[in-house]
Amino acid sequence: MASAAHEQWQSRAGFLLAALGSAVGLGNLWRFSYVVGENGGGAFLLVYLLMVLLVGVPLLLAEFALGRNARSESLGAVALAAPARPWRYLGLVGLAVAVVVLAYYAVIAGWVFKYFALYLVGTPERLTGPGPAAAFAAHIAHPTEPVAWQALGLALCMAIVGRGVHKGIEKTSLVLMPALAVLLLALALYSSTLPGFAESMAFLFAPDWSALAQPRVYLAALGQAFFSVGLAMGVMITYGSYIAPSVPLPRAAVTVALGDTLFALVAGLVIFPAVFSFGADPAQGPGLAFVVLPEVFAQMRGGRAVGTLFFLLLSIAALTSMVSLLEVPVAWMVRRHGLSRWQASVGCAAGLLLLGLPASLGFGPLKAVTLAGRNLLDAMDYLAVDLLLPLNGLLLALLVGWVWPRRTAVQATGLPAGAGRLWHAALRWLLPLVLAAVLASTLA
Ligand code: TRP
Repeated sequence: MASAAHEQWQSRAGFLLAALGSAVGLGNLWRFSYVVGENGGGAFLLVYLLMVLLVGVPLLLAEFALGRNARSESLGAVALAAPARPWRYLGLVGLAVAVVVLAYYAVIAGWVFKYFALYLVGTPERLTGPGPAAAFAAHIAHPTEPVAWQALGLALCMAIVGRGVHKGIEKTSLVLMPALAVLLLALALYSSTLPGFAESMAFLFAPDWSALAQPRVYLAALGQAFFSVGLAMGVMITYGSYIAPSVPLPRAAVTVALGDTLFALVAGLVIFPAVFSFGADPAQGPGLAFVVLPEVFAQMRGGRAVGTLFFLLLSIAALTSMVSLLEVPVAWMVRRHGLSRWQASVGCAAGLLLLGLPASLGFGPLKAVTLAGRNLLDAMDYLAVDLLLPLNGLLLALLVGWVWPRRTAVQATGLPAGAGRLWHAALRWLLPLVLAAVLASTLA
């Protein structure tokens, strides 16, 4: 399974920042803020933290362990842990989800790049002149321009992934992730001076206990935790396969999951004070970043600079996550089909552009096409994130909890015996239960 040429991260920091780069993405900035907004703020946050700790960390550790143990990308790693017939194909589900998510993720990233470019060249009026909602609608409805931005994002990822794990992904993460942290902190400092800061602290951190009685809050929290930490798509298995034997995996899993959560919280402290200071509605849904914020920036002192930095932040976060998703099919094609990294990167990026085309055109020329009442991008998001992600998470937990020999599994995590038993019990009982409940209620 492991090839002699299987690459490795050259430093622990490089690996941690690459994994954090995968985890921190549009999910933390764009998705987290509107999901928190829609689900009542503080109470949601509590459930979210629980989901990250009880479900996210054990599964992330399992993925790292599967990958490092096999020293193979996700499909090979799954097949090595569970060689029997139906299980060995489980990696395919993860690969499929990664491909579908990246296809439409690149469309949204394209919108982000365009907004960044408009702020940078100093024409953000184009985002608010006709009203921010109308400007956003007009941009995403354009038949060709969003596709060009989408292609640009995929081309950048292709260039990074094509250079290899160390020279491409690791080196890029070592530069971009610290930049991301600095940008986020600078924006948070600025936000803390806004009049709406106290209100947004209350919104984010004061629990509204009544929300805990609503099943949809748990669903939203689990879905968001999976998406944000980046689980169940083969990404962390693949990244895990490049980890050196000396790195303690449990600590890495906790660092990545909590680091990702910290980024999301600070992002909330950037976004909500702006929203509240200008009397906007936090429960706006997916348009929060593209519609509400440009309007806020237009009214804010120094708004153009803040807008430029904000969309730069979003662009970087999106890029490093896209890189990790692209690595999944690329690593598979390199191992399985003997392609060179460059061949695989170019081929995958081109295929992903085609696959994402309907998601982009669904707002313009293909507007009339809907699937179960959803536009094409939302349909892909629903299929991948609401259905396939929990399904794949469930199957992965079953595989590690029941099929992969327990002793090998615990040994691969590097946990001491007692903690290892707890971890294994979580994968065997707790995760399948939670995930099956979530799937059942999504389907119902
Ligand atoms: N975690 C990223 C985000 O928050 C998106 C992402 C990257 C992802 N890799 C993933 C989501 C794997 C699910 C699974 O935007």
